[in-house]
Amino acid sequence: MKLMNVLLCTGTLALAASCNNPSENKETTIIKASITQSDWGEFDGSKVYLYTLTNSKGTEVKITNYGGIVSSFVTADKNGNRSSIIIGFDSLSGYLAKPPYFGALIGRYGNRIGDAKFTLDGTTYQLAANNGKNALHGGLKGFDKVVWIPTVMDDTIPMLMLSYTSVDGEEGYPGNLKVMVHYILTNDDELKIEYSAETDKATPVNLTNHSYFNLTGDVSNTILNHTLMIDADNYTPVDTSLIPTGEIKFVKGTPFDFTTAKTIGKEIDSVKGGYDHNWVLNKKDNSLQKVAVLSDTLSGRSVEVFTTEPGLQFYTGNFLDGKFINRDGKAINQHTALCMETQHFPDSPNKPNFPSTILKPGEKYHSETVYKVVLNK
Ligand code: GLA
Repeated sequence: MKLMNVLLCTGTLALAASCNNPSENKETTIIKASITQSDWGEFDGSKVYLYTLTNSKGTEVKITNYGGIVSSFVTADKNGNRSSIIIGFDSLSGYLAKPPYFGALIGRYGNRIGDAKFTLDGTTYQLAANNGKNALHGGLKGFDKVVWIPTVMDDTIPMLMLSYTSVDGEEGYPGNLKVMVHYILTNDDELKIEYSAETDKATPVNLTNHSYFNLTGDVSNTILNHTLMIDADNYTPVDTSLIPTGEIKFVKGTPFDFTTAKTIGKEIDSVKGGYDHNWVLNKKDNSLQKVAVLSDTLSGRSVEVFTTEPGLQFYTGNFLDGKFINRDGKAINQHTALCMETQHFPDSPNKPNFPSTILKPGEKYHSETVYKVVLNK
């Protein structure tokens, strides 16, 4: 195998990890795990940066503090070719054109709240109806459209901390909510996302990440040939505006059955509009567990999803319509990317039988999700 020496610690904020002297062994690829920062523009009077997290295998994740967006996740495929397994843009302007949450951090409430309102401790809170009559993904200016305060953590693995304080009344939600998100790239090709939050008034909180995956790294291939396993015997059926009816239904015998891996395209035509539903994960507690595996034979890549959350919104990019152009110049059409949004169930603030999403003063919100890339050669 012909290998070369690679040294990736170029930025001012580069952090060294397990890096031998490259000049000692010309036959070994040595990549320094690192995190670098570059200027990416300005929004709302705040500086926007792009961070590049690189691990010892050369896997590279780019994250901006605008919306906490993961803009690319570059890994090798089975032939050694590198490409991003998530869609995105190489400049801030792409994101300012408001794509449908590409790669973004979603809050204060990921997913929908029916009729854009909820009642908590006797007070009814009115939110912006930004999705028909419902509220979606935190409102008109959710956490995906604000500038987060970035901190590069002093650690041996590339780790970026983003923090944001959502003030009392922002987008209609009660309480000052202090949110912290840690993005970590491990040498095992895991992108770890750790969310924490605290509030001074009771409020619903449901944080997630909205990365759109296409494991072929090329949006000219749809995701219909990817296979998916979701460890869930139940899902939450929805009405025509995608609000859960409140029922918890068995997937067995329906197109929603992904308990054993099957191709996404196999039964998608029987689901009006495509998959855009919440699966009730079989896990019984809030420990971190593997809940889904997405695979693609063309590239040989799989992504394993681990989470502490009780639900997974699996969305097959039904509303993608070619309006946005991926970084490689190709149109992002319907079903060319998919999301696996770990979360609590949609509309929980109005569904007393769903696990609660209410965070109270004195409590600590904690949620963790890992997307681990595995290569099947
Ligand atoms: C989520 C929703 C979808 C859609 C996308 C963004 O995943 O469940 O219905 O709104 O976000 O387009």
